[in-house]
Amino acid sequence: MLSVAILAAGKGTRMASSLPKVLHKISGKTLLQRVIDSCNELNPNQIYVISGHKSKEVQDSITPNKNIKFIFQAPQNGTGHAIQVLCRQVVKNEGTLLVLNGDVPLIKSSTLKKLLNLHNSNNADASIITTTKNNPYGYGRVFIKENFIERIVEEKDCNNQERLNLLINAGIYCFKWKNLSKIINKVKSNNNQKEIYLTDSIPLLNKSLSLEVEDNGELQGINNRIQLAKCEEIIQNLIKEKHMLQGVTFINSASCSISEDSEIGKDVVIEANTHIRGKSKISENCVIGPNTFIENSIIEKHSEIINSTVYNSQIMDNIKIGPYSHIRPNCEIASHSKIGNFVEIKNSKLEEEVKVSHLSYIGDSKIGESSNIGAGCITANFDGKKKHQTKIGKNSSIGANTVLIAPVNLGESVTTGAGSVITKDSRDNSLAIARIKQVNIDNWKKKKS
Ligand code: UD1
Ligand code: CA
Repeated sequence: MLSVAILAAGKGTRMASSLPKVLHKISGKTLLQRVIDSCNELNPNQIYVISGHKSKEVQDSITPNKNIKFIFQAPQNGTGHAIQVLCRQVVKNEGTLLVLNGDVPLIKSSTLKKLLNLHNSNNADASIITTTKNNPYGYGRVFIKENFIERIVEEKDCNNQERLNLLINAGIYCFKWKNLSKIINKVKSNNNQKEIYLTDSIPLLNKSLSLEVEDNGELQGINNRIQLAKCEEIIQNLIKEKHMLQGVTFINSASCSISEDSEIGKDVVIEANTHIRGKSKISENCVIGPNTFIENSIIEKHSEIINSTVYNSQIMDNIKIGPYSHIRPNCEIASHSKIGNFVEIKNSKLEEEVKVSHLSYIGDSKIGESSNIGAGCITANFDGKKKHQTKIGKNSSIGANTVLIAPVNLGESVTTGAGSVITKDSRDNSLAIARIKQVNIDNWKKKKS
């Protein structure tokens, strides 16, 4: 039987934040959710999340899952105290207990499996993930004697000699739960931080093993925002390198960020300062950026998007967008269309080969294929209370600076006169013009005042 305990009760003072530390995010996901997701791959019987500081916020942040139980730890007297509380609240302290600090978010389930294997095959009381760090500052130092871990000394409790030890505790442990629960209440807080350390359980157990793994970034703990940024960089490099090996070109990779859940096709070029978030899909041969933000959107083949923002929309193939276009949620833009500079589109469907090239707002609209929307056109979709729809049939030409007061329905091959304010529907093949006629007054001079 495998149980997991994730320590997430601390405030995270060093983050200098009103948000609990484990709710900070890297690449869009909280530190805590990352640790949970990694553990879930092991199919544990039960996951205990130990929360305390702002526990409601912590609990609400988690993707609901039947096998998660919350344990409330208050006050937070240290990692050992957290486990004391757990052991008291759970009736049967049996099987294997995997304990993880909630602030080590990049831990891979494959590494956790290795730890479990080592632990079970050696019938150990405790097994701990360790690594050698060139700069071990802030971590507990692990002392090994004749292949067994003898003790772990926190940075703040180390003497000068102990501080030179580069082998550190990653904050991930496997215990024979029964044996741990027998001794956990003997752990005291007689140290410089006056906390009950989980690490002080080691000298009280018989057989503690170290699983030393290479420091490849996976074990980076987060205590402050410098380490948070470091973790973000580690994860971003992993994501981008994966895409590069699958045929994506990054022009200035350091300035770009890509979510883990996004897909990018072959021969896509990602230009500088481009950010792809959420669940997005960029198909083959697109050029995205520079300076482009895409979230939860699909971009089909051979499209080019420059200096633009796209949210929750579907952009088909061979489309050019930008510079400075804003595609807001729920747009569908069909093949070979062109969206130009300073154009905002929201909740609209554009058929093939539609052009909206300059300075327009299109909201709640349907535009038929091959229609051209002139510079400065506005769909006035809001009457102060409700949103209304604008429909424009195919092959239409909407003259520059037309205002379409919705609801309004224009047929196919309709032309509107530049500067018109269109309030009435118009039939196929018609010209709609709504502006006062120009008056020329000859020999007119300004009056002298
Ligand atoms: C801990 C380890 C240290 C290790 C490091 C690895 C101890 C005593 N030290 O130090 O050896 O090198 O992690 O990253 O364990 N928490 C609770 N309840 C509490 C206190 C903390 O749930 O009362 C949680 C925190 O929310 C956090 C985790 O435990 O997620 C670790 O606590 P933290 O204070 O960050 O420990 P470190 O000083 O980093
Ligand atoms: Ca920590």
